[in-house]
Amino acid sequence: MSILPVPRTAIIVVAAGSGTRLEAGAPKAFVGIDARTILRHALDGVFAAEPMQVVVVAPAGYEGDAETELRAAAAERVDLGRVVTGGATRQESVAAGLAALWGDVTTVLVHDAARALTPPAVIDAVAAAVVGEAGAVPSLPVVDTLKRVEDGLVAGAVDRSELAAAQTPQGFPRTLLEAAYEIARADGAEYTDDAALFAAAGHPVRLVPGSERSFKITTPADLERARLLLAAAPAPSPSSISAAVTGAPRVGVGTDVHAFGGDGSLWLAGLEWPGEAALSGHSDGDAVAHAIVDALLGAAGLGDIGQHFGTAHPEYAGAHADVFLSRTAEMLAEAGFAIGNVSVQFQGNRPRFSGRRAEAEAALSAALGGAAVSVAATTTDGLGFPGRGEGIAVTAVALVIPRPERGLPAPAE
Ligand code: CTP
Ligand code: MG
Repeated sequence: MSILPVPRTAIIVVAAGSGTRLEAGAPKAFVGIDARTILRHALDGVFAAEPMQVVVVAPAGYEGDAETELRAAAAERVDLGRVVTGGATRQESVAAGLAALWGDVTTVLVHDAARALTPPAVIDAVAAAVVGEAGAVPSLPVVDTLKRVEDGLVAGAVDRSELAAAQTPQGFPRTLLEAAYEIARADGAEYTDDAALFAAAGHPVRLVPGSERSFKITTPADLERARLLLAAAPAPSPSSISAAVTGAPRVGVGTDVHAFGGDGSLWLAGLEWPGEAALSGHSDGDAVAHAIVDALLGAAGLGDIGQHFGTAHPEYAGAHADVFLSRTAEMLAEAGFAIGNVSVQFQGNRPRFSGRRAEAEAALSAALGGAAVSVAATTTDGLGFPGRGEGIAVTAVALVIPRPERGLPAPAE
C-alpha cells in the first residue's frame, strides 16, 4: 500500500439541520433528490475535488446514516472522512466540526450539505483562494432589482452592484477561523454565515465566482429544481457560463484506412472474421475501432490515436479493439466526459457485414462501457481502393457529453 500525503485542507460539511422549511419528514440531509440523498450528492462533489479531510456533521441519532453516505461517496478514500454530532444551531455544528480537524490542517472549508449540487471546481477554487489572512467565499452577482421596504411599501432602491449573493463552501485559514469562533462563542454572537463571523473578527474575505448549481435546497421548490437539474443533466445552464464548460455535447470525427495484406485472420469492428483476408497495421488493423477511437478523442479534445496508441506504445502491438476502446473510454471518463453515441460506416467489398452487424455493435458497445454504437457498411460501386478490393476506408462520428459535476464555476458578471 502506498502512503498518501496528509492533506493540509479540510472541509466541514454541515448536515445537522432538521430541514423544517423542506417539511420532508426527515432531517434534510437524508432526503432523496433522485436515488441519492442530499448529503450523498454533496459528498460526491466533495470527493470529486482535490483530496481533503472531510468532516460530516450529522444530526444527533443519525451518525450511522451519515457514516453510510460518507463511505459510499468516499470509495477508497474513506480514510479521509469522519462523522461528528452537530448542535442546535449551524454555528454550533460548525464548531463541532472544527473540533474534529486533524493537526496538520491549515485551511478549512465550511460547506452546507444543503448545497448538494455544488461543482467540485468551486470547492477547489475556494480552497486555492485562501491565502495569507484572507478567507474566500463563492458568490454570484445579484440579478433581481432590490427594494428597501417599510410596512409593506417600497421605501427606496438598493444598488445591486454593491451586493453579491454568498454561497458555500467558504474557506478560511484554520487558526484564524478557530479564534473567530472562540470570540463569537464568548460573546454569544450568532452570525448568518462563517464569512460574517470571520469578518467580525477583523479579517478580509475575498470573493471567487460561485455557481448557479450551488443553490441551497431550502424549500420543496428548491428540491424540485435539484431534481429537474439532475434529470436534465447535462443541460447547459441558462446563465452566462459558456456552453463549453457547462455540458453542451461535443462531436468528433475519425477516419481510418487499412490495406488488406496482414498476417492471420481479419479483425474488423471488434470481431474476428475467419477465412477473410487480414488488414495490415501496427495493431490488428481494425480500422473501424481505430476510427472510433479518433472520433472519441477528437470530441473530447484529447488528441488522437497515434499519440496514445501509436508505434511509441509497443504494448498495443497486436491488440484488439476491446483494448483500445476500453482504454479510450477510461481516458474520456477521467477527463470528465460521458459517451453519448458513436456512429461508424466502412467502405469495402469484404467482409459481407450485415449478417454480423448486431454482434459487432454489441462487442464495440461493451468495450465502450455500454455506449450506443451503430455500424454500417457500404460498397463504392467498384470505385477507388475500396472498390478495387485493396483495403477498407472508415468514417466514425462520436458524441460526448461533459459530466455536469465537472463544470467550471460560472464567471461573475
Ligand atoms: N445545519 C447544521 N446544524 C444546525 C442547523 C443547520 O449543520 N443546527 C446545516 C444544515 O444541515 C444545512 C446548512 O446548515 O446543510 C444550512 O442550513 P439550512 O439550509 O437552514 O438547513 P436546516 O436548518 O436543516 O433547514 P431549516 O432552517 O429549514 O430547518
Ligand atoms: Mg436552518
